[in-house]
Amino acid sequence: MEPFRIKAVEPIPLRTVEERQRILAEADYNVFRVHSADVTIDLLTDSGTTAMSSKQWAALFLGDESYAWASSYERFERTVRELTGFPEVIPIHQGRAAERLLFTTLLCPGQTTVANGHFDSTRANIEQLDCRAVDLPCPEAADLVSEAPFKGNIDLDRLRELLDAPDDEQVALVILTVTDNGGGGQPVSLANLRSAREICRQHEVPLLLDASRFAENAHLIITREPGQQDRTPREVARAMFDLADGCWASLKKDGMSNTGGLIALRDAETAARCRERLTITEGFPTYGGLAGRDLETLVQGLSEVTDPAYLAHRADTAAWFADALAKAGLPTLRPAGCHAVYADAGHLLPHIPPENFPGQAMVCELYRQAGVRTVEFGTLAFGQDGGQAPHELVRLALPRRVYTRSHLEYVVDAVKDVVGRAGELTGFTITGPQPPMRHFTAKLTPLEEGRNTP
Ligand code: F0G
Repeated sequence: MEPFRIKAVEPIPLRTVEERQRILAEADYNVFRVHSADVTIDLLTDSGTTAMSSKQWAALFLGDESYAWASSYERFERTVRELTGFPEVIPIHQGRAAERLLFTTLLCPGQTTVANGHFDSTRANIEQLDCRAVDLPCPEAADLVSEAPFKGNIDLDRLRELLDAPDDEQVALVILTVTDNGGGGQPVSLANLRSAREICRQHEVPLLLDASRFAENAHLIITREPGQQDRTPREVARAMFDLADGCWASLKKDGMSNTGGLIALRDAETAARCRERLTITEGFPTYGGLAGRDLETLVQGLSEVTDPAYLAHRADTAAWFADALAKAGLPTLRPAGCHAVYADAGHLLPHIPPENFPGQAMVCELYRQAGVRTVEFGTLAFGQDGGQAPHELVRLALPRRVYTRSHLEYVVDAVKDVVGRAGELTGFTITGPQPPMRHFTAKLTPLEEGRNTP
C-alpha cells in the first residue's frame, strides 16, 4: 500500500472520447499541446509533478528570501554536502540550466562527451556547443525483454577503446546518467561505476553523474546488486557520488519538489567558473534562480527521497504496473525501473514503420480512448535529422506520490482497449519546422488508414 495518506485532493478532468478526438486534432496530434484541463491521468513525466509532503508545504514558510547568503541556501548547501560529499554546491532552477552552465564551462567546440545515455536535454546542450555526444549503452540494453538487472551500465570495453584512440584528448567528459532515462530508466551498478571511474582516472578524464534520479538508482542497487542488500539508500547514494568528480541533477525528480536543480563538484576552481556564469544568467550564487522557499522544499525533499519505505513502494508500484500492462497485452521493457514503465510500441505496432512514429500512434490512441497522457521516446523524440531511434518506446511516467493503484488500474484497462485495436492504428507524418527537441512542438498529421508510408 502507499506509505502515506492523502491530505489535499484535486479533481480529475473527465472528457468524452468525442471531445478528446477534437482536442487531439486541434493539438496537431502532439500531446505536449494538449491542455492539462483535458487530461484525465497525466503520465507525461515524473518531472516537477511530485506531490509535496505536509512537511514540505510547512517548510515553504521558512524560506529566507534574502538576496545573498540566505539561511535557506545554507541549509541547502549543508544538505547537499552531507548527501553527496561534494564541497562545492551550486543551486540552479532546473536540470538543463545546470547542463548549460556546466558544459559552457567545461567544453570547447569539437570535443566529445561519452555517456551510458545522454538525456535529450543533455545531448541538445552539448551539440549546441558544436560538441559530439556519444552514447555507449551496455550490450544488454539492446535486448528489451531480458531481465538483466543493470541495463543502464556503460559499455566499459567501448569506453576503454574510445579513450585509448589517438585522439582521446577530444573526450572531455564521461557522464553516467543515473538512472538512464532515455534508455528505459535502467540503473547503473556500483561495479560499473567503479570500473568507469578507474578508466577515467587512467585517462585523466573527469567523470560526472547526471544524478536526477540518484535515489531510485541507489534503491535498485540495493535490491539487485550482490552484497549491497544491507546498506541504506543514503549509504549507497554516497558510494555512487564518491566515485565521481561531481554531478548535476534536475531536482524536479528525486528532489521531490516542483522545481530545482543543482551542480555539486569537488573542484573549487571549476565551481568558481560556473558561479561566474551563474551570476550573469541565473542570479546570485546562493539562490541560482530559485526562491528561498524552493530551497526549503528541496532540503526536506532530499531527506524524504531516501526513505526506504518510500523507495520500496515506488519500485514495487512500477514493477506491478509493468506486469499488469504486460498481462493486458502490452510489450514492455524489462525489468521495470522506478520512475516509469516503457512500452515497446514498435513491437505492438509492427505495421507502422519508424518514420511514421508507431510510439506516437500509441500515445495518441491512449489519450483519445481514455485521456491518459504519455510520451513518445522513439524516432520522434530521438530521431532528429532523419535518424532512427534504437527502439520505438512510449514512456508511461509515474509522478511521485500523485496517483494511487486504482488510477493505474484505470490506465491498464485503457491499454487493454488500445492493444485490442492495435491493428487499426495508423502512423503520422510531421508537418512544419523541426527545431532541436522537435517532439515538444512538432505538428503531426495522421496517415490515411491502411497506408503507413507517406
Ligand atoms: N537529465 C535527465 C536524466 C532528465 O530526465 C532530465 C529531464 C534532465 C536532465 C533535464 O532536467 O527538466 O529539470 O531541465 N527529464 C524530464 C523528463 C523532462 O520528462 O524525463 P530539467
